[in-house]
Amino acid sequence: MITSTSTTRSPGIEFRNVTVRGSGGVVILEDLTLSVGRGEVVALLGPSGAGKTTALRAVAGFAEPSAGQILLSGKDVTHCEPRERGIGMVVQNYALFPHMTVAENVAFGLKTRKIPRREIAVRVGEALEMVGMADKADRHPRTLSGGQQQRIAIARALAPRPEVLLFDEPLSALDAQLRQGMLAELGRLHRELPDVTMLYVTHGQNEALTLADRIAVMANSRLVEYGTAEKLYRDPEFEFTARFLGSSNVLPVTISSATEALLPGHPELLKIAPTVQAAELTAKLSLRPHRVILLAAGERAENELEMQVEEIQWRGSTHLIAGRVAGQPFAVEALELAELPHPGTTVRIGFAAADAVMLRAETRNSEGVVVALPTGSDTAADTMATGHPAGLGSLAVAS
Ligand SMILES: Nc1ncnc2c1ncn2[C@@H]1O[C@H](COP(=O)(O)OP(=O)(O)OP(=O)(O)O)[C@@H](O)[C@H]1O
Ligand SMILES: [Mg+2]
Repeated sequence: MITSTSTTRSPGIEFRNVTVRGSGGVVILEDLTLSVGRGEVVALLGPSGAGKTTALRAVAGFAEPSAGQILLSGKDVTHCEPRERGIGMVVQNYALFPHMTVAENVAFGLKTRKIPRREIAVRVGEALEMVGMADKADRHPRTLSGGQQQRIAIARALAPRPEVLLFDEPLSALDAQLRQGMLAELGRLHRELPDVTMLYVTHGQNEALTLADRIAVMANSRLVEYGTAEKLYRDPEFEFTARFLGSSNVLPVTISSATEALLPGHPELLKIAPTVQAAELTAKLSLRPHRVILLAAGERAENELEMQVEEIQWRGSTHLIAGRVAGQPFAVEALELAELPHPGTTVRIGFAAADAVMLRAETRNSEGVVVALPTGSDTAADTMATGHPAGLGSLAVAS
């Protein structure tokens, strides 16, 4: 994760109760309130159809809110033209002009702004330098690889020196290895441009965790949860976040006290991370598969449970052991094991209280709106396909 420069200036981007309607008046972004600090990178993370692109288009001026306001550096731009907003945008499919050279593509936004020719040359050189493409100025886009084309698209967005950069799944057309490299470069760009505010749309948890200072998890046209990458990963408030950002075992329990919960079918109370929720409440507990260990004979842990092993998958550096705990689907991810448990046997597992995080009893957001798990999302599909919350197949670093 890259830390942001803290600032007391007005936020770079502010959504205030923004609602956007699509054709037929249907709500496609509902009452979004979100503040992005100047110089901060915020990822909008969510499954397909969550409303991420709509939120981005509202900032850029391509989707007009039916209610609410958008502010950039404290200025209300809700009804401003896109070109008055000082924004650079990078989309998935590069959208370069094929008949123009790289330099002409990068200069495009500057020419429409009537900037003197000499100044244009300087800025084009500077932007190409930033993305490591200075030697490709005279090439045509079709002679470049996908990764190179995306760098040119980024240079084009940078050339007008925008205060805000919007990215809509900029790496999703690239192969996994190239994506990793570009991700590191975007991190570098962020460090070199500490005052540029970035809003980054992705459905890849890896991209969001790597790049973003804060993550806004979205589903069903709404914001589910907003916080630092670390907070959302280690201490998610909602089941949707626990499952979408990384993978999680989710067990139904009854809260007994601030630090204990009862798992049906297990005789002893589980020790949990302190919760503010009331005793007697039936709620769900989230436990990351890699925070659970297989206990050796005689080995003890703060919490000990029995697990029926059903299936084992080798993942290179780790093994994923899937099965059931107290009748519930459960998975353990362990560093490559020398000795594997056998499917059909029972093993002892252990975990620390600090890793057993209580989720909010009801899946509602901070305004009390019920947030349902969207059907058809990758997460839901994995759960349904395998019956395991960790979704054999979804534990790999997805992006
Ligand atoms: N102009 C429109 N009229 C009606 N519905 C629309 C319009 N634009 C988008 N939608 C719908 O609004 C919802 C949100 O769309 P949006 O493109 O913002 O989602 P997204 O989170 O970016 O998804 P993806 O990850 O697939 O890009 C979707 O269900 C989409 O079909
Ligand atoms: Mg989209």
